[in-house]
Amino acid sequence: MIDKDSGLHIPEHVGIIMDGNGRWAKKRALPRSVGHKFGAQNFRKITRYISKTGVKVLTLYAFSTENWKRPLEEVSALMSLFKQYLVDSLTDFREDDIKVVFIGDKSAFDPKLRELIQESEEVAKDRKGMLLNIAMNYGSRDEILRAVKMIANDVKEHGLDPESITQNDIESRLYTAGLPDPDLIIRTGGEFRLSNFLLYQSAYSEFYSTETLWPDFHEEEFDKAIMEYNQRNRRFGGV
Ligand code: IPE
Ligand code: IPE
Ligand code: MG
Repeated sequence: MIDKDSGLHIPEHVGIIMDGNGRWAKKRALPRSVGHKFGAQNFRKITRYISKTGVKVLTLYAFSTENWKRPLEEVSALMSLFKQYLVDSLTDFREDDIKVVFIGDKSAFDPKLRELIQESEEVAKDRKGMLLNIAMNYGSRDEILRAVKMIANDVKEHGLDPESITQNDIESRLYTAGLPDPDLIIRTGGEFRLSNFLLYQSAYSEFYSTETLWPDFHEEEFDKAIMEYNQRNRRFGGV
C-alpha cells in the first residue's frame, strides 16, 4: 500500500475518469446497469483507499453533461444508483473523515437527488480529511461558459473593467475555485481523451490511461498510476 511514508511523491490533486462500466458488464453478458452497480461499489472502496494515501483532493467524474444522450433506461439506472450510494457512502466516508462536495449543474437532477446531494454536503462540511469532488452533470465547456457569464455580468452590473480581467478571475468562477489544479488525471477503460473533464484545470496535468475497466480498478491499480506519476518529469514549460 502507498502512503505518506512510502517515499513516493503523492499528487496533491488526482482526477479520475471512471470509464468502462458498460464494457465490464458486456464481457460478462450482463446489462450495462450491472456494470454501473459494480462501478459504484468500486467508487466507494477506492475512495476510502485513496483518502489514506495522502492525496488531498480527489475529483471523480461520475456523469457528464453529455451522458444524458444515453437510453433513458440507463440514465434512470444511474440516477437510482447515485441516490442509493449517496446514502450508503455517508457512513463509510464519515469514518474516513472525507469531505464530499458535488461539482456540476445540479439543477438538472430530480428533487430527491438534489436533496440527498445537499444533505451529504451538509453532514460532511466540517470534515478535515480528503476533499472528494464528485463531478455529476459536469462538463468543462459548461463550466467555462458559466464563468464567462458571471464575468460578463460583473462587467455589466458591477463596473468590472474588461482590461483588468485576469486568469484568477476565471479560476475563481470555476467549480474548482480555490483548489490546486489536478496533478494527475487517471482514465480507466483505455481511451486517451478527456471527454470534457477539467479542460481548463488540466493544462499541466499528467495523464495516465489504463486498459483496466473501472469496476476492476483496485488499490494496486491506483498504486501503479502513482509509481508511473513518480517517473514523470514535469517542466511546466520551463527546462
Ligand atoms: C462510465 O462507464 C460510467 C459513466 C459514463 C456514467 P461507461 O458507461 O461509459 O462504460 P463504457 O465506456 O460504455 O464501457
Ligand atoms: C466519460 O466517459 C464520462 C464519465 C466517465 C462520467 P464517457 O464514456 O461518457 O466518454 P466517451 O463518450 O467515451 O468520450
Ligand atoms: Mg464510456
